[in-house]
Parts: sequence; C-alpha cells; structure tokens
Amino acid sequence: MTDQNQRKILVTMALPYANGPLHLGHLVEAIQTDIWVRFQQSRGHDCIYVCADDTHGTPIMLKAEELGITPEELIAASKEEHEADYADFLINFDQFHSTHSDENREMTELIYNRLNEAGHINRRTISQLFDPEKEMFLPDRFVKGICPRCNAADQYGDNCDNCGATYNPTDLIDPKSVVSGATPILKDSEHFFFKLQDFEEMLQKWTRAGHVQEQIANKLDEWFTDGLREWDISRDAPYFGFEIPGQPGKYLYVWLDAPIGYMGSFKALCNKRDDLDFDEYWNADSTTELYHFIGKDIVYFHSLFWPATLQGSKFRTPTAVWAHGFLTVNGTKMSKSKGTFIMARTYLDHLSPEYLRYYFAAKLNSRVEDFDLSMDDFQQRVNSDLVGKYINIASRTAGFIFKKFDATLTAECSEPELIKEFQDEAINIADYYETREYGRAIKAIMLLADKANQYIAEKDPWKLIKQDGGEAETHAICSNALNMFRLLSIYLRPVLPNLVENVESFLNVEPLNWDTHQSLLLNHTINKFKPLMQRIEQDNVDAIIADSKQATGSLTEAN
Ligand code: 2FM
Ligand code: ZN
Repeated sequence: MTDQNQRKILVTMALPYANGPLHLGHLVEAIQTDIWVRFQQSRGHDCIYVCADDTHGTPIMLKAEELGITPEELIAASKEEHEADYADFLINFDQFHSTHSDENREMTELIYNRLNEAGHINRRTISQLFDPEKEMFLPDRFVKGICPRCNAADQYGDNCDNCGATYNPTDLIDPKSVVSGATPILKDSEHFFFKLQDFEEMLQKWTRAGHVQEQIANKLDEWFTDGLREWDISRDAPYFGFEIPGQPGKYLYVWLDAPIGYMGSFKALCNKRDDLDFDEYWNADSTTELYHFIGKDIVYFHSLFWPATLQGSKFRTPTAVWAHGFLTVNGTKMSKSKGTFIMARTYLDHLSPEYLRYYFAAKLNSRVEDFDLSMDDFQQRVNSDLVGKYINIASRTAGFIFKKFDATLTAECSEPELIKEFQDEAINIADYYETREYGRAIKAIMLLADKANQYIAEKDPWKLIKQDGGEAETHAICSNALNMFRLLSIYLRPVLPNLVENVESFLNVEPLNWDTHQSLLLNHTINKFKPLMQRIEQDNVDAIIADSKQATGSLTEAN
C-alpha cells in the first residue's frame, strides 16, 4: 500500500461506567468496534482504537461511599476488571484510559475555557431538589415518589415505569431522597449552561451530511423541530468530577468530560508513541478520520452536544457517529432471574470469546436495530458454521497432505477458476466489513465454506486415495481445499483473531492480512493439523445461565 492510500483512522467506542462489571450488552459494542478496527488494520490502514472508563458523577461517588472506599479506589478496581474482561474478549485497544486522568483534565479545562471565552456558556440560578440530611442536590434518578399521572408508588424522578409518563422530579407526589430517605426541599443554586442553540445551523447541516445513519438523522430532525435548548453542564459539590476552572465548589457534569475522554485517552497514547501527533488528529483542519461507535441510547450526546462542543472549542468534528441497537437474550430484555443478565466474566468462565464474537458478527448490521442472542441458536449456529463447515475443510484434508504428501501442497493449482471465485469475493466481503454489514460478510463467507465442502464431498479423496493412480488427484484436491480454507481464514480474521493465529501456525504462514488473498499457497510445507475449535456443549450454556442467576461477588458488582 502506498502512503497515499493509507488512511489514518481514530476509532472509539462508548466509555463504560466505572461502577459495575461489563455484561454482554457492553460486549456487542466492543466486538462490533474491534472487528471494524481489525479489518482496517488488516487492510494496511493506520487504525487506532481508544477507550477509557467513564469515572465521574453522582452514582460513582455514592457507590464508593456505600462500599466504604474512595471513588479513586472504586474506579481503580473497576478499571482493572474492565481491562481484563476486554482483553479476554480479544478487544485490541491501543489505549484504555480513564476520564479521571491528567490528560482528560487538561483537555476538559481547555475546552471549557475556550467555550467560555467564545461566549457559549451562560449562567443562571435554578431551583432543584436537595437532600437536607445528606446536604446534596439530587439527580432525577435519586428521587422517588408517587407518579403524578397514574399514582403508581416508588417511581423515579424522571419517568414512570408504570404509565410511561415523563416529568420533573418536582412533580412527584410525596418525593423521597433515595440516598437518605429524607423529604427533599427546593434549593437555589447558580448553574452553568452550554448554549447548544448557538450551533443549531451547524448541527442541522452536519447531521444531513452523512455523518450519522439515516434513522438517526430522522430522529435528530424531531429534536430540531422541538428546538435545541441550553444544556446544564455544572453540578454542585459534593460531586466526583473536575472542578470548573475558577469556580470553587462547582463541578463539570460527567457528560461534558466523558466524550472528551476520547481525546484524553488518545493524548495518553500520543505521550507514549513518538509517531503520533495529537494535533494531526484533532485540529479543526485534520484530514484524519474519526469514528465513534455508540449505543442508540446516547445519540443525543454524540450527535448534538459532542459535535457542538468540538466545533465551539475549535477542534475537528467526527467523521461519523454510528449507533447500534440493544441486545436481548432469548427474546427479551436481559434478566437476572432468568439467568440471562450475563456478565462478561461469567461467559468467559465457560466459553471461548470467539464463539460470541462470531455470533455477534453474524447478527450485526449497520442499522440501529436491536438483536437477539438466543442461546440455542448461538450454540447451533457456531457449531454448524465454524466447526461443521469452516474448520471441517481443514480437518478433512490436512491429514492427507501431512501423511501422504510430505506435508507439502502441490506446486500448481488444478482448479484455478474455482479458487478465483473465492478470491474474487474479497471485494464484496471487504465492502460489507467497511459498511458494518458484518452479517452479510459472514453469510458470504459461509456460502464459500459450503462450496468448499461440496467440492471435497464430490471429489471424495477418501475413495480416490485407494484407487490406483489416485494419489496425484488426491494431492491436488486437498491442496485446493487448504487454499480455500486459507482464503476463508483471511476473511474471518477480524472476527476470530486467535483462531486464525492458530491457522497461521498450522499453515506455516505470515499473518493473513487482507491482501494475502491475492496469492495462493503452492509447493508450500504446512504443519501438523491440531483441532482448532471445540463444539459448544449444552452443559456450557446451561452453566452460564445457572451462574448468571447467582450474584457475581465482584467488588464493583452492578446495583
Ligand atoms: O452511557 C454510558 O454508559 C456512558 N458511560 C457512555 C459515555 S460515552 C462517552 F461519551 F464518554
Ligand atoms: Zn405513572
């Protein structure tokens, strides 16, 4: 690849909160992003993947208090757990950082100061619910009471689970502080607001210029019709976060510094790597690409607040924000009592990460759609596609090559047209990965796997080898089959990195980067075939469900 063709790409996924363990919902996004990054890297692009723990805010402060530790201790423990979970799911970050870091503080202060100097920050006094015992203002989720519409008891301060009404916490009947049980009072305080409406025109253009999916652009149109309002970016002490420069006792709301955490994390990486220049990626005139993978619940933050924050502080805006839908398990919302609220670690205790990577890839597309992990379908699909089709190609033919032909493939390909069909599919499959249509990529790959298995079945090397003079043809058939297997491995590598690393050892080849599909293995000596993947057994799946019904016992266990 020439330098001109090489893209410089920075990729992020949403930062997980530092107060709970990762579950399979988190893994959807991590895996979706990781596959895309690995695909770009395999194509020879300079693609960097950063993330961090999202560490600030009231829930984290209160969780630490409940555990009798400092917020710093809580976020340190959480970071360690998150990093281990992601690593074991083969999520290949260049940097996993923390929003509670020097780099993030530096960037957040710079951005706040620039917004302030440019006149995009307003101040005014507002009245909010305050816990007089705990002496703190209460976020909406920390007030409970009777729904003003349907009278259901025990409803949060922002919406009613029973009737779906949305309201202000001050509308609740008989409100109580979740923190102390005290009846909240109304109290005044000066707040700082980001004037989002200053960016209305820019945002309207931006969202219609291909930076977000169509479904998201339509949703944004509704928000534009409702009108953009200024955004409250300050919180009063006690709060775990960054103090507003020059404003003692006032803190920046977690959702301001969280996306800046993408920059903070990248900055930390630049500090370690001489070849990376922060400004090249973030200056307003940057020619590099910047992509954010997110869940559909945080679109407002990423397609309105975030581009406006960047624009207002004279940084570049994202090339694209890509939202995915939510994961359901066995057809419904994940549920602890059903054993379907599955923690990353619980899954890893019983199964290899690549099964799940494969299944998610097979189900993912570029739209903002929810999708289901049905445990039966998962087991059946992985066993049938990966073990029954893909690996089968090698396991049926490698033995012949190893035992009968000195472990060496033929010097010429006897089926150039058939093999060319496998090579030509590279263009379509690459296009599917590039556009996040992973399900289509997997479908195309499995059609090729079917073709390879059909070829082997038709040619029947087991029968041929026993016939007089059948040796040469058996050699050719098995060599062709292993070449097909190698091509499929190139295409599956972004999804199954460890498995394909083992394939590389077995085939005795250098890393199977995308461009290697243009060549074939001829007159090449391979290594002995070892089983590459076991079937998923019912016991493994049952154990995951059974364990998920128990508490995890982890320090940072979810509430
Ligand atoms: O919704 C969440 O889980 C947030 N912690 C995501 C933050 S993404 C980014 F903005 F930091
Ligand atoms: Zn209600």
